[in-house]
Amino acid sequence: MDRFIPDELIERIREGVDIISVVSEHLSLKKTGQNYTGLCPFHSEKTPSFVVSPTKQIFHCFGCGAGGNVFHFLMKYENLTFPQAVRSLSERAGISIPEISKRDEKIEDAKEPLYKANESAMEFFSRNLAEAKDGERARQYLEKRGIEKKTIQEFNIGYSLPQWDAAYRYLRQKGIETAALEKTGLIIRKDSGDGFYDRFRERLIFPIFDLKKRVIGFGGRVLDDSLPKYINSPESPIYIKGENLYCLEKARQEIGKRGYLLIVEGYLDAIMTYQKGIKNAAATLGTALTPGHLRLIKRFTNNIVLVFDPDSAGKKAAIRSATLFIESGMKAKVASLSEGTDPDTFLRVNGVEAFVDKLKNSEKLLDFVIRETKGKEALSSIDEKVRVADEVLPLISRLPNKIERNAYVRRHAEEIQLDEKDIFAELENRAQKKGFKQEDRKQPLKREAASDNLQKRMVHPGAKAEEMLIHLMLNDESIAKRVKDHLSPDDFKEPLFKRVAGIVYNVIESGKEFNTVFKTEDAEMASLFSALSMRELDYDDREQSFYDCVQKIKGAGIKERLQVLQQRLKDAEKSGDKDSRNRILEEIKALKSGIINL
Ligand code: UTP
Ligand code: MN
Repeated sequence: MDRFIPDELIERIREGVDIISVVSEHLSLKKTGQNYTGLCPFHSEKTPSFVVSPTKQIFHCFGCGAGGNVFHFLMKYENLTFPQAVRSLSERAGISIPEISKRDEKIEDAKEPLYKANESAMEFFSRNLAEAKDGERARQYLEKRGIEKKTIQEFNIGYSLPQWDAAYRYLRQKGIETAALEKTGLIIRKDSGDGFYDRFRERLIFPIFDLKKRVIGFGGRVLDDSLPKYINSPESPIYIKGENLYCLEKARQEIGKRGYLLIVEGYLDAIMTYQKGIKNAAATLGTALTPGHLRLIKRFTNNIVLVFDPDSAGKKAAIRSATLFIESGMKAKVASLSEGTDPDTFLRVNGVEAFVDKLKNSEKLLDFVIRETKGKEALSSIDEKVRVADEVLPLISRLPNKIERNAYVRRHAEEIQLDEKDIFAELENRAQKKGFKQEDRKQPLKREAASDNLQKRMVHPGAKAEEMLIHLMLNDESIAKRVKDHLSPDDFKEPLFKRVAGIVYNVIESGKEFNTVFKTEDAEMASLFSALSMRELDYDDREQSFYDCVQKIKGAGIKERLQVLQQRLKDAEKSGDKDSRNRILEEIKALKSGIINL
């Protein structure tokens, strides 16, 4: 992307734009003598120490020392590379950089009508909320939830009318093509194939913006307890859920000042934190965090604080994707709202200070995961300890920094009362098995990461069988369907494969074309899919391979479980706990009798 731009062109672009007009688009400047001053966007301050010179065409902050020309300003403000900053100003300077490919331009052109459709829809929804008679219920609902007028405007919250085609008719009348409306998902084709109806009816509407403040999609919430609570725009050429965060376009500036991004789960959580003055928060869009999200966030900060609803899907997903964070080198922390509420409720009930306190007391993601893995009870049996160590060690081993890694091992050893020497030995053992040194595991957050790292990441014995089976599934729909009947995603031990299985099963269940599997939004998945599905199938006998793999995976799971149970049985017998002894025996019996029935 960042191709070479000739110096001469760079110079002309720099001369062609005025730093004052560029900077003042992002913050307000006041003329003071020769120069202009304002509040520095790169650090938090109350009195202006940010100075821009129109004659020298440079800026400087006497508070934090940031400074440079107009390109540097944009690089820092928008987190761009130098060539990206030059490009983004070229149009303004009226100078074209020739090699931006025609293809990219065409893709951008094709998206234009979709942005327009969404923009007009947003205006329509806003007006409904402000003025329509039918909007009264929505107005009351927002008031009940404590959302202020100003917030409604800042977030462009709207309301979709109850009629089946109010938006459709309005937008058509505004001259927007049906094709664009359909692509954005604002309208849905009737089952009869004849005509369209509105996706959003009688719902509060939350427009979703990208970083350029273009409307890329909508979330629509019911006004009562009916289901589904939310209807959302589908993904489209302009809306990829795994690469956007709700409210990030508003939060970006504050992230710099506060030094981290707060990630919440719901639209309303992001809105309420913002309204309460905590403006560095963004929300996921009903999906787990993806590598695409992390790449996006990395443009602004390396520090994340996650706030979850207790027992929410998001919390579980974060635990599952802890590897992703740890490998990315990001510093992720988790704030737990122990009172059992989400940020929205918590803020309204307990106030900002209590919330800020919770944020201050957030704990490192790895600590959080270790705590959650251990559970509340003290670990007594050896099996339990081994299970915890097994789950936690792969995470610890991925810490890029050796000192931190060792510190974790020590603490972890102490917590579960195992000898740290054993844990170090086990780590070493695993690293050797994988045939690479721990130090090599760095910077995996690239698109190629999944396929490249797959080999390195697989640690457990059944991994090969899992890989083969996934390979088969991706190449053969009928095998995929049969695997689905035999294995749940959780039967796959490798986290990536769990996710693949989940995606494949979802597609099968939805009745969509099987190829939809490959259209995942998740970049890590996408590269894994392409790597696995493009590889030649070299199994002599697919049927036999399928059978063997399923057998092996099932067997591995059962064997593991049996070992655990047998140990527990001994413990129970020793302690004379008849109840648990019987329960364990029953489970053992059930497991054995179920082996293995294909
Ligand atoms: P929540 O149920 O916590 O919603 O789901 P919320 O936005 O906080 O709303 P309130 O406070 O309950 O009114 C969290 C997020 O999960 C996605 C949405 O992005 C939502 O904001 N979600 C939830 C859906 O996409 N669909 C649903 O049916 C539910
Ligand atoms: Mn909520």
